Amino acid sequence: MTSFTSLLSPITIGNLTLPNRVLLSPMGTEMGTPDGMSTPAEAAYYAARAAGGTGLVITGITFVADDFDPIAPGLARIDGDQYVPGLRAIADAVHEAGGLFSVQLTGGLGRNNQYCATLGMEPRSASDNTWFFDPSVISRPLEVAEIQLLVRRFGEAAARVKEAGADAIDIHGHTGYLIDQFMSACWNRRTDEYGGSVENRCRFVREIIAAIKTNAPGLPVSFRISVDHKFDGGRTWDETQHIVKELERAGIDLIIADDGSYEAMDYVFPPYYLGDDCMVTAAERIKAVVDVPVAACGNITPENGEKILARGGADMIAIGRGLIADPDIVNKLRAGHAASIRPCIRCNQLCTGNAFVGKPLGCAVNPEVGYEGKRVLTTAADPKRVVIVGAGPAGLEAARVAGARGHDVRVYERENHIGGVLLPAATPDFKRELRKMIDWWDAELAELPGVEVKLGYEIRPDSAELKDADVVLVATGSHPLAPASIPGIEKAVEVIDGHTGAPLGKRVVVCGGGLSGADFALEIAEQGHEVTIVEMAEDIARDMFSINKVSLDRSLAEAGVRVLTRTRVTAITDSGVVADGPDGPVTLEADTVVSSFGVRPARELVEALTARDDVTDRVYAMGDCVDPRKVGDAINEGYELAYSI
Ligand SMILES: Cc1cc2nc3c(=O)[nH]c(=O)nc-3n(C[C@H](O)[C@H](O)[C@H](O)COP(=O)(O)O)c2cc1C
Ligand code: SF4
Repeated sequence: MTSFTSLLSPITIGNLTLPNRVLLSPMGTEMGTPDGMSTPAEAAYYAARAAGGTGLVITGITFVADDFDPIAPGLARIDGDQYVPGLRAIADAVHEAGGLFSVQLTGGLGRNNQYCATLGMEPRSASDNTWFFDPSVISRPLEVAEIQLLVRRFGEAAARVKEAGADAIDIHGHTGYLIDQFMSACWNRRTDEYGGSVENRCRFVREIIAAIKTNAPGLPVSFRISVDHKFDGGRTWDETQHIVKELERAGIDLIIADDGSYEAMDYVFPPYYLGDDCMVTAAERIKAVVDVPVAACGNITPENGEKILARGGADMIAIGRGLIADPDIVNKLRAGHAASIRPCIRCNQLCTGNAFVGKPLGCAVNPEVGYEGKRVLTTAADPKRVVIVGAGPAGLEAARVAGARGHDVRVYERENHIGGVLLPAATPDFKRELRKMIDWWDAELAELPGVEVKLGYEIRPDSAELKDADVVLVATGSHPLAPASIPGIEKAVEVIDGHTGAPLGKRVVVCGGGLSGADFALEIAEQGHEVTIVEMAEDIARDMFSINKVSLDRSLAEAGVRVLTRTRVTAITDSGVVADGPDGPVTLEADTVVSSFGVRPARELVEALTARDDVTDRVYAMGDCVDPRKVGDAINEGYELAYSI
């Protein structure tokens, strides 16, 4: 068993001693008001991570100015004294919860600012760079007086942050935002004192660090840097190694390292495809050339974080989404309960996905995010007999919540395993965290005396088990679609069977390029099969979050998967697939054809029950049997239904 002695040991950054080496990686919450005021919900969210033992709670980006770079509604800001009380409320809440609090400051997004267009403003940047969202729009280089005003704004913001009671300040220098644009040769072609040599390109950031240190004396200052932008022509380690030395010379107290940029956004929000520790080399490289502490970040589990620290790859571990999924990571490690940490499944569904549409942070696996202190699993005043049909994600989460609230819960599952279709779908190595999630429910339910799970047990509309139930939650999932109109469809292997060991030949054609088909194609291509995806629509995995799709497309290309879009399967034969493509009919030779045409809700039970007068008012449907959606929808629905009992 891992002891986590490195992760749980204290560390000093600047003059601030942290009780352990786990940072809440900066993440915007979108929980503020449209005019940038923070809210009690935001304070409660951060306080919960502090109460969970996190060594340092860092906020998401907080804007210091809107002089040149407009601030979109809902984003956190500290460009005026009116924002200090809200920030102080967060600082106080974090402190009351026993934590330490840092505020991440940004000078703006520069050429990555999408909100410019809404206001009809031209984007600003270090040089005349193309606007990220439309290369025909050229950014205006900031004038020297404007740069110096921005530096002053950092100083003013730092003074407000200190006044609000924060313990540290972080500078957002990654993701290709304005500061990154100044530091990086690919975006900085200035010929004045802010461009040219590395020293000159770092002048802006050196002045920012100095302004912060002058105006917030005593507060340690950390810096987030992307070590490798991960696109052709972007900054790589060759250039970054000189920049981090400049940062150290400028007095930075901690460097938080990752990779990526808007051009490679999946590194900023790494989906499951990128795998464990996907950017740890960023920290390792910096650590080899500087003496200040360095934090690693990106898909790092506590177990791997411990290993990274133990081998000297970093001094701290910044955990972002892992701490959204489970705010109590550190306390659980301290208590020796690492196995009870709820894993982040790296889906990006309700954290990044929400942020991208301006909605407050949520979580696929933790429905209490955004409701900290409100959704609390207290014992129900009037315990009920709850029957749950189906042990997929909705059923399991409902059982956990109902059981934790003291209800008497019976879960009936037709298959001989829990997890529903998640279990077979989680066979790829890159979906390891999904498997951990199923194990997590298994362990949680085993701890709840009022919950009994019966496997291999089918419930029918007239089953006696339903008779005495006060509440029946139906979570029967979905059925695979097998279009009868396709001759030879019976020759195809259903994708779920493919996951669970159905024999596959060397050449495989996957019919249907939705998320399920695409992930399966990737899994078997990585095992050495020659794989073709045939998809009728314009693109594969159209329901996938755009950032995850960046990773998926790259992974499929690297694994050599052939993707045929706008191609409709017309027949499945003994030798493969016949299809209609944009250029006419195509014949695809295959040893195995896999059917992944999608799913339809398994509504038979719920329809039969709701038709019965004696049970209809006790029956509720949830998860895919309502409408097949993403796993986070099923889990959140299961939580909410069970919570309402
Ligand atoms: C919803 C969301 C918002 C984020 N916002 C910020 C931010 O404001 N500043 C920042 O430096 N990084 C931001 N990030 C990146 C995270 O700090 C972190 O680098 C990333 O999530 C990878 O770490 P993880 O795998 O531990 O989550 C954000 C990530 C997420 C998921
Ligand atoms: S929504 Fe998904 S990626 Fe985001 S924190 Fe929750 S489990 Fe992790």
